[in-house]
This record gives sequence, structure tokens and C-alpha cells, in this order.
Amino acid sequence: MHLWKKLATHQAKIKNRSILSLFDETRAAEFSVQADELLFDYSKINLDKTGRDLLLSLAEETGVAARREAMFSGARINETEDRAVLHTALRNLEGSLWVDNEDVMPGIRETLSRMEVFAEIVRSGEFVGQGGPITDVVNIGIGGSDLGPAMATLALAPYHNGPKCHFVSNIDGAQIADTLIQLDPATTLLVIASKTFTTVETMTNAETARLWMTASVADPAAQIVALSSATEKTAEWGIAPERVFGFEDWVGGRYSLWGPIGLSLMLAIGPDQFRELLAGAATMDQHFRATPFEQNMPVMLALTGIWHRQVCGCPTRAILPYDQRLARLPAYLQQLEMESNGKRVAMDGRDLTVPSGPVVWGEPGTNGQHAFYQLIHQGTDIIPAEFIAPRHAHEPDLEHQHHLLLANCLAQSEALMRGRNLSEARQMMADRGLKGGERDRQARHRVFPGNRPSTTLLMPQLTPFTLGQLIALYEHRVFVEGAILGINSFDQWGVELGKELAQDLVPMVAGAESAEGKDGSTQMLLSYLKS
Ligand code: F6P
Repeated sequence: MHLWKKLATHQAKIKNRSILSLFDETRAAEFSVQADELLFDYSKINLDKTGRDLLLSLAEETGVAARREAMFSGARINETEDRAVLHTALRNLEGSLWVDNEDVMPGIRETLSRMEVFAEIVRSGEFVGQGGPITDVVNIGIGGSDLGPAMATLALAPYHNGPKCHFVSNIDGAQIADTLIQLDPATTLLVIASKTFTTVETMTNAETARLWMTASVADPAAQIVALSSATEKTAEWGIAPERVFGFEDWVGGRYSLWGPIGLSLMLAIGPDQFRELLAGAATMDQHFRATPFEQNMPVMLALTGIWHRQVCGCPTRAILPYDQRLARLPAYLQQLEMESNGKRVAMDGRDLTVPSGPVVWGEPGTNGQHAFYQLIHQGTDIIPAEFIAPRHAHEPDLEHQHHLLLANCLAQSEALMRGRNLSEARQMMADRGLKGGERDRQARHRVFPGNRPSTTLLMPQLTPFTLGQLIALYEHRVFVEGAILGINSFDQWGVELGKELAQDLVPMVAGAESAEGKDGSTQMLLSYLKS
């Protein structure tokens, strides 16, 4: 029988089984994986050895291992854009890697050292703006040119010892206005981050920022750098080649934090800590490349994803970091996962026969507990939850708060699995003095169905190294899920249509063109906006 069918049959058989009943003395050890000092526990999901074996066979049968090697060795696996996928080369810095008869490693190492030299002169104050050393950096970019550095800069706040970094992404002028108003143009560095250097949001914001700077700085070009693959466009925009940090087309936007797009982060934490981030990611790459599937953390994280989404049919997954500094991780993973695997057509052009990747969403705990966990515990949908927490915080004086945070994280996964049955709820109500029908009615509201799946990823502490591991872990998870589904995780055609239509609509919104030919709803909305 086809493996997807076998999985479906198995799932139908066990779907009402209690997860708690699966626990014997060995389950926790057997349904968890360690990579370096990270621990991934997937024992609190309704997966047994039979299910896991089927998933592992699926990974074998769909050629994950061969595709993984193809990616690492620079084959053009992004077939719809005819590109290699080599973000891993940005962090595995030793040796050679040949793409189209060219060793790409010397170029990668050279760009990294140019970034380091530049970061050092800015951080030391040797590089000056018109008003003196740089105090603030404004990273102007969107999508992969924003989410990675913004997420990582927030995550690594304890390591900041450089200029303050601000991130502007939205075309909404409110964001750039609110950012620039706090800053002195004479001591600000503008970092224009755009792989293509054509993205309308970024180029519009960059122009706004340049005008802001021009009003009070004699030579604004001296305080602007570009991070881009499109060197002819950066030149057209007036940025000198020595102020451009380039990268190749085989670095996808949402995988680009590791190279020039990481410059703002490097300015904040310094080159040494940035190298730690790269080293952490490289460690995860080596683990992913060399470890048998059953002990392979990205593979097992991916298989839990496939189990919940494609086999059990859960439409979403919640990312729940118990670390406030990972507040932007869910947004970062939304792009990484949904732009990569939100596809309904397989590599061969045929429709998928199983659902595409899930909706990814989340917020840090414990904030989420006081907002949407209600639905995760008692709603009618099953939402697989992915908890992430560090053993140690960075605030030794506030250890009691960290203990409370961790206790909450563990309590949530326990509560989701264990639940509270009707007789326990009845007893609770009886203890509060309720009787008969009223006791039963109140009890029903206090029942937790339980048996709700969650996984937990623990790390020693949120450091540049572990953050590198964490991001690479999720990148490879996305890769494995995409390979199993047979889709191209590295293109993003689904973002194009809206961009094209927006261009047509600009003159209509501005009132310079009639809305004739548009549908009735769009015409009505335009007429409201113009009135
Ligand atoms: O519109 C989607 C997208 O192409 C993302 O994939 C990318 O990260 C983002 O836009 C920004 O692109 P660029 O770096 O070329 O400005």
C-alpha cells in the first residue's frame, strides 16, 4: 500500500488513543532527539513506533537524503528559478565548493571579512557620519531582508554593544516616520537591504530616508550602504561599490541572514558573536547532513510536522517560545515556512494529493497563555503546539522569574496532554459546594479534553550559537517537509500577483485613472477612498 495511505489508515486506527497511555519507562528517551546541547522532545504527541517507522519510510522513499546532498553540493534544486540553494555555504566557511565551474567559497569569505572590517570601523567610531560616530543604524528591507536580522537582533539583546539598530519594512509611511523622528541624521547609518534592489517598499522607504538625510547632511551617500545581489541597480542608485555588500542569487531571501543581510545584526553584536551565530548554524548543518534520520533533529521535527498537518489534517501549528526575546521568531518562521511550503503544485507541475504546509503562528509565553491558549486547550480544532525554551536566562538576579517561566512552559504541555475529565471537574465543583444539575453544568465548562499534541525544544541559553542552531534547525525542517511533499521550497510565485495588481491600482487610488474594468467591490472601495 502507498505510504500516505498506510499512514492515514494507521492514524484512523489510533486517533482517539490517549497520548498519556503511551508513556512507559522508555518513551521519553525513545521519542526525543539530541543535537549537541539541544533537546527535542516529541513524546507528547500521538505517535507510536509504527507511525514513526511509516514516516521514516516516507522520508526515505521521497528521496530526502539525495535531495539534501544535492542542496549542500550546489545542484540547481530551485528548478522554477533555475538556481542552486546554498545559504549553508555562508556558514560552512572552510574548503571549496564548486558551482558552475567556480569555487564560490573565496568570494563568501572575502565578503564576510569586508563586512567585519566595516562593522569594526563603525562600532569603534573610526567611521564617522557628519555629526561624529554612528549611534543608530536603520535597516531598510522587507521579508527576508528584514525578518531575519530583526528577529535575531531582538533575540540577542544581551550581546548588543554597538550602535542601536532599527528596522523599517512596511510601505506604510507611519513606520519610517516613527523611526526617523527619534534619530539624528548626522549620526545615523542607512542600511538598504534588498536582494533585488527593486522591491517597492524598500526602494520607497530608502528614498524617504535619503531625503530625510539630505536635508541636514552634506554627503548622505557616505552614510548609506547597500546589501544586494543587484550591483548594477545599487550603482544606479548612487551607492559606491565599496559601500555594497553583495551576494549570489543562490541565497534565497528568507535564508539570507547568514551573509550581507546580517550586517545590521553584526553591527549590533560585533563580528565575533556573528561568527558564533554562523558556527551554531554550521553545527546544525553537520548534524543534519550526517545523522541517521531517526536521530536527526531537523528530520524528526519535520516528520512531526508532516504527521500533524498532512496525516492528522491539523491546519495550523503554533510556535510558542518561552523567551520574550524570541518574540519575532513566529513572524520569522511564518515567512520561512509559509513562503517555502505554502504551495499546491508539486515540482512536476501536478496538484499535491495532500495538504500544503500549515498556517504558522504564535507569540511568546506566558503572554499567549492570557490570550489564545484558551482555544488551544478547549477549542474544537487541534493545534499542535511547539514550545521552545532556554534552560538559563541572562538575568541572574531574576532567576525566580525564569523558574516561573519554565514551570509555565512545562505546565502547558502537560495540561494539553493530560486534560481534565468530567468526573474530576464535577469533583472540583462539588468541593466548591455545588450540587446536582448546577454542579454538572458548571463542570462541563471546566473539562479539558486533553490529548492535544505538543513538542518541546530546550536549549542551554539563548546565545548567538544556539540561535544559529535553532534557525538552521527550522530551515532544514522546512527543507525536509518540502522534499517529502515534492514541492520547490525555494521559489515564491504566490507573492507576485498582488504586487502586479497593486501597481495597476496606484493611479486609481491617487485618482489619476478610472477604475473601469475593476470588479464591483474594488470599484466601491476605490470610490469610498476617493470621496
Ligand atoms: O515578495 C517576497 C519577497 O521576494 C521575499 O521572498 C523576499 O524576502 C522579499 O520579497 C524581499 O525581497 P528583496 O530582498 O529583493 O527586497
